Amino acid sequence: MRIAIFASGGGSNFQAIADACRTGEVPASVVLCVSSSANSGVCHRARTLDIPVFIVEGISDLETDELQAVLARHQVDFIALAGFMRKIPTSLVRAFENRMLNIHPALLPAFGGKGMYGNRVHEAVIAQGVSSSGATVHIVDEEYDAGPIVLQESITVLRTDTPASLAMRVLEVEHRLYPKAIDLFARKMIQISDREVIIQPKS
Ligand code: GRF
Repeated sequence: MRIAIFASGGGSNFQAIADACRTGEVPASVVLCVSSSANSGVCHRARTLDIPVFIVEGISDLETDELQAVLARHQVDFIALAGFMRKIPTSLVRAFENRMLNIHPALLPAFGGKGMYGNRVHEAVIAQGVSSSGATVHIVDEEYDAGPIVLQESITVLRTDTPASLAMRVLEVEHRLYPKAIDLFARKMIQISDREVIIQPKS
């Protein structure tokens, strides 16, 4: 499986996925980094690993034939979104139906949707006083954070947590969960029927 990771921030999930592929733990390769910010940490990480970077400036760039051509040139057959700060156009979602994942730093369907990203998620979790949070890997469809859920892992929200401390502990979960979800796709262990994600046993 040949993966393009779309990311705009520090790129710690990018790193976790790329590392898991490079050690052979996940039978796939990260062949492209698509970013909305040329100076982001993720671009730096990609260049260090010799992974090509493609910069998209705005939403319109995502709809151009150029991006489709870049994806085709690198023979990308799977997309992982990891903190990508642009809405994915419907054309791309459809082209990669059931082959595009996202990770969200909370237990969807709670604390998701438009405008719920970054620290806002953890602030809302703490403000609501819920006892658990965590991470969710889901399939990308045309709505924000609403696609079928592939994997979730929860952690306890501590009374002493700040948005920053919670974010840090959720990120640790993400770094385990995202490679694990991608591994299931790479090993063809996922079956999707309507909105149900069925994980097949290892053969
Ligand atoms: C993660 O918290 C992820 O859940 C969210 O964006 C953040 C990306 O972090 N979608 P990083 O750039 O991978 O460190």
